[in-house]
Amino acid sequence: MTRSHLTLGIETSCDETSFAVVADGRRILANVILSQTREHRRYGGVVPELASRRHLTNAVPLLHEALAEAGIGLDDLDLIAVTRGPGLVGALLVGVALAKALAWALDKPLVGVHHLAGHIHANFLAGPGEEPAPAPRLPAVALVVSGGHTDLFHLQADGGLEWLGGTRDDAAGEAFDKVARELGLGYPGGPVIDRLAARGDPQAFPFPRAMLDDDSLDFSFSGLKTAVIYELERRGWRDPDRRAELEAHLPDLAAGFQQAVVDVLVAKTVRAARQVGARQVYLAGGVAANRRLRRDLAAAAAAEGLELAYPPPVLCTDNGAMIAAAGYAAWRRGRRDGLDLDVDPDPPLDAWL
Ligand code: KG4
Ligand code: ZN
Repeated sequence: MTRSHLTLGIETSCDETSFAVVADGRRILANVILSQTREHRRYGGVVPELASRRHLTNAVPLLHEALAEAGIGLDDLDLIAVTRGPGLVGALLVGVALAKALAWALDKPLVGVHHLAGHIHANFLAGPGEEPAPAPRLPAVALVVSGGHTDLFHLQADGGLEWLGGTRDDAAGEAFDKVARELGLGYPGGPVIDRLAARGDPQAFPFPRAMLDDDSLDFSFSGLKTAVIYELERRGWRDPDRRAELEAHLPDLAAGFQQAVVDVLVAKTVRAARQVGARQVYLAGGVAANRRLRRDLAAAAAAEGLELAYPPPVLCTDNGAMIAAAGYAAWRRGRRDGLDLDVDPDPPLDAWL
């Protein structure tokens, strides 16, 4: 039996520090994730300098943990893959500097990965005991919805990638986080709103569905956030003395807001698939963990005869395994980065393989 090819995946673009070991680009041997959300929560969002410093202190212990979990040593690694952007520059620097040091010391190839290519590749990974990993079905449409991005891509069979549309203002995850903050629910907002909404009536507060009827595949979520704030003001629920009244309406408010986001995401994704003749839809990014989005998109896709796939929740949010998978695919196609690899807060993305 031939030995597996082992990729180390490093992710430090935002507030998760993660190291993963992935075999042959698709089998997860270890995926260690340390989320800093508890530390950032009291500031209501990610504090970039704090994130960088936590990556710096946590990186080496987490790397050791990932290697131990995979049952390998540093010398067994065949490839070092690291997120080079988009993300917070100081946070990215920690991962990229460590990746370069490892590549140099071990004399192993290095590949800088686009964070969104990583999110897409989360769909092609198998966890332990879950083999084989699903092979990509192409052409496909990918909806990447995270804290920083809301983008629709056409994944082409030759590895090319065409951007079809995206948000003109806030990202979907950013809208969840900002609305959660207005509702006094803390950071990050997505998981809390998801949980509250499960008990609410999505029709009790009919918030606007921005850009639903225009022809583009673009999105806009900042007006929705304003609509929620306006509703709170109109009802007097921003008054701390009326917190109990607001609390009683939180499930309905969460459900109404969430449904407004989901309706637009679902409609535009189906439209994108029709437009490019895709039979397959991939969901990716932190917001892809949202249960309403998964359910409604599954129903809409089934009605159109489209296949829908999404990663398990732990692979939807930031993790090193998805970076290893995307890095391995790029390496297979001949990509190599030198030790002059730099971080890039907004790198181009024109290929996904
Ligand atoms: O992909 P990710 O971990 O980091 C970025 O690359 O941005 O995504 C984080 C985002 C946050 O905005 C968070 O609120 C959102 O994903 N999120 C969710 C859910 N879980 C995480 N949004 C809606 N529903 C969820 N269940
Ligand atoms: Zn992400």
